[in-house]
Amino acid sequence: MKTEVLNIENLKGDAAKAALAEAGRLLRAGQLVAFPTETVYGLGANGLDGAACAKIYEAKGRPSDNPLILHVADRAMVEEIAEDIPPMAEKLLAAFLPGPMTLILKRKAVVPDRITGGLATVGVRMPESAAARAMIRAAGVPVAAPSANISGRPSPTTAASVLRDMDGRIPLILDGGPCRFGVESTIVDCTGPVAVILRPGAITREMLTEVLGGARLDPALVGANVTPKAPGMKYKHYAPRAPLTLLEGEPTKMAAAFRRQVRQLQKEGHTVGILASDEVCAALADVIPSELRKPYGAQGDLSAIAAHIYEALIAFDDTNADALLGEGTTERGLGLAIMNRLHKASGFHSIQI
Ligand code: TXA
Ligand code: MG
Repeated sequence: MKTEVLNIENLKGDAAKAALAEAGRLLRAGQLVAFPTETVYGLGANGLDGAACAKIYEAKGRPSDNPLILHVADRAMVEEIAEDIPPMAEKLLAAFLPGPMTLILKRKAVVPDRITGGLATVGVRMPESAAARAMIRAAGVPVAAPSANISGRPSPTTAASVLRDMDGRIPLILDGGPCRFGVESTIVDCTGPVAVILRPGAITREMLTEVLGGARLDPALVGANVTPKAPGMKYKHYAPRAPLTLLEGEPTKMAAAFRRQVRQLQKEGHTVGILASDEVCAALADVIPSELRKPYGAQGDLSAIAAHIYEALIAFDDTNADALLGEGTTERGLGLAIMNRLHKASGFHSIQI
């Protein structure tokens, strides 16, 4: 299959309008279309068509027990797929949607069993991205979409990275430029007595607490030895090809700690790559060539770090690095989402400095 990439960055232009119409036609015909959102690129199918959704699992190599979330353009589409929407979900809808958040709600019978993995619930996401909502409107149906990567690989935040994983597997990729946030949506389970965060994202625990008075973290997120409630959170994820070790601790001591670790690894014969702050990357310029240093933003600039970690992890796959060192950051605010992804990418392999 030939994979076409159509640019839709200028949403008002004729080219984007034609591309969105083509995407709508393909989705209604049961085909897959990759599209930009404000978090990461999605791999979309008609969310009411079980056979179309089955193609997503095939293209990604995704385990079939891992449910898909449904993307909607507006409030009316939420009602189409979910019922008994509780007051806490109403508050979240009013405060944060459209935005980088997925609500777990009681599902309606129109939602195909194929995508819920047998659960009585459905994940509902109303993206902030105008391009994503325009595509959903063009399709006229809720759009099922996981991140547009091969299962287990880092999520793509550019059309080029989608093409890398999906070339030849799908007919169309809509290119809306790089994603603004760079980490997947916050998943909030609204089906119990209190809101529970199943996956941290750009809508932070602090922001949820302000609106709801409180929000719990799924115990699986805080290291407890329990099965996560979002099935996808149990899989190894986001992994680059070379093994990644995180260095965590005091930012001012990072550069020296990196230098020690790099020396040791190089002595053992490794080609070392580092994914670290601008500061640490600059400090190690004398021991690591520039193509093996991926700066993710200034220390503590959480928005920049979130926006760059996946592309940096993907970029290492084009180098000869066989050992990667990553710099950890705070777990406050957006840092919780960043550290969740970095811990998974490293297989929870960390050194406290
Ligand atoms: O930002 C995002 O959410 C991106 C973009 C494309 O919208 N999508 C995304 O989808 O990250 P995916 O499939 O990669 O992650 C969705 C997560 C999975 O871990 C899945 O197990 C979980 O949501 N999930 C889906 N339905 C669920 C449900 N009914 N209950 C609990 N977890 C659910
Ligand atoms: Mg994913």
